[in-house]
Amino acid sequence: MPGPLRPHIACPTTSGTGSEVTGIAIFDWLERHAKTGIASKRLRPTLALVDPDCTLTLPASVVACSGFDVLSHALESYTALPYTHRPKPESPAARPMSQGANPFSDMACTEALRILGANIVRAVTDPDDTAARERMMYAATLAGIGFGNAGVHVPHAMAYAVAGLVKTYRAPEYPGDGALVPHGMAVIVNAPAVVRFTAPANPGRHLEAAALLGADVRDAAPSEAGEALAERIETLMQATRMPNGIGGVGFERHDVPALRDGALPQKRLLAIAPRTVGAQELEALFERALRYW
Ligand SMILES: [Fe+2]
Repeated sequence: MPGPLRPHIACPTTSGTGSEVTGIAIFDWLERHAKTGIASKRLRPTLALVDPDCTLTLPASVVACSGFDVLSHALESYTALPYTHRPKPESPAARPMSQGANPFSDMACTEALRILGANIVRAVTDPDDTAARERMMYAATLAGIGFGNAGVHVPHAMAYAVAGLVKTYRAPEYPGDGALVPHGMAVIVNAPAVVRFTAPANPGRHLEAAALLGADVRDAAPSEAGEALAERIETLMQATRMPNGIGGVGFERHDVPALRDGALPQKRLLAIAPRTVGAQELEALFERALRYW
């Protein structure tokens, strides 16, 4: 951003992006078939008006997709490389917004995960459950505060390729025509594959996230953390009619190299992954994301 922006009052109309409290703006770069973002502290709105009544008429599919975006913001920030493991800036003010997991973002993300686990299925399946939709709106803003100060990693990096390279799939209940994998859907179809891969970096946090989302992990060993969390996400996806992996939105094995090349340039995101992710790892993750159940 070349300079300060005009005052900006942001009023979200879905419970998803959290962009009313972040310094991130995402856009489609049509010529490159890429979805990407710009990030600057100057993009953070002056004021957020968060009114859950704005979401009462949303179709179920939109509530589900935006809800899984929230889930992934919270989960990715909570499992991101801790800020203490990243290069130290000259001064605290020079820290990037995507600085990695930190105590402040942890607080927002764990609470957002707890709310998500208890409300996402209710909010999607019962349009009259206004209490659940209100909780989802709060979770979206909370997760925005969290990931806006920590950063998201691999599922979001992969999502840009999934959304950008979509062929003919169009999500139900979205107005307009043409191929479309909504952002939250493009993210969550990667998430189970990613958490199975990232869990060994911090099994405790992955188990905790599974429990916050409603899984019973009392007897789970640290080595089972990735599976426990992935299974819980898959259960929530099935309960809300999400597609079965990237295969469910029209991708096949021969598309994996293009998907890998589409995700690889997302350096800001991959830099805070809890494990090193390069071309080989991305290829393996997209292969595993083809189908889950
Ligand atoms: Fe997102």
